[in-house]
Amino acid sequence: MAAVDEIAPDIFRINMMTVPDEDFSTSFFVIRDEAPTLVETGFRRAYEETHDAVAAVIDPTTLRYLVVPHLEGDECGALNPFLAQAPHAVPVGSPIGVALNLSDFADREPRAVDADTELDLGEHKLRFLITPYVHTWESMLPYDVTSGTVFCSDVFIGPEGRRAVTDADQTDAMVRMYRTVGIFPSRAHLNHALDKIEAVHPQTLACHHGSVKAGNIATYLQVLRETDVTGVTEWNPMLEPPGS
Ligand SMILES: [Fe+2]
Ligand SMILES: [Fe+2]
Repeated sequence: MAAVDEIAPDIFRINMMTVPDEDFSTSFFVIRDEAPTLVETGFRRAYEETHDAVAAVIDPTTLRYLVVPHLEGDECGALNPFLAQAPHAVPVGSPIGVALNLSDFADREPRAVDADTELDLGEHKLRFLITPYVHTWESMLPYDVTSGTVFCSDVFIGPEGRRAVTDADQTDAMVRMYRTVGIFPSRAHLNHALDKIEAVHPQTLACHHGSVKAGNIATYLQVLRETDVTGVTEWNPMLEPPGS
């Protein structure tokens, strides 16, 4: 089964290795509250395994919100299987994400959120940073005001996915990975997103690839500001199809 770790009070990380040779993993997050919520869903092909992991934390039929930072398999591939299990669950995306993608892709009417929205989950309150092209047009990053957790999706990626939380400085590995995968098209868009992340003073960076960061956050922000990680990359060796 996927690994399950509590990374902040009532916030659980569901983690699977996705490219074991590269020590590359994918995580998504369960918020256990009056309105149980998933931030990301993981891949559709991993649904059976991740469903059981979610069920170890909450009853998946009670899910209320399924938050989609952007449309990719690792972010929301299992959205519709989770929706099918949860009659009251609503997909949540940015205005562009809902207009262009979720309104077509999701099996239930989605809800658009923006910088003025607060989703009251009970103890936890979710707000949203709209961060275009970090790293897709519709990108947004949710954050939990209660715990100071930014769900930073593909920002601050790293290795050692089996370690749920770290306060180590893994910025060298982060920069190497970004230069390999080439997911940030523009310095201006990246800086815009970093400004928004910094402005909410995160205590925890709930990364979707690699360990959750619970320390050294200022260093991560500084390194991404000062290092060249944007531009054109034509080939990503991590995108070899499984089994090839
Ligand atoms: Fe992504
Ligand atoms: Fe990703």
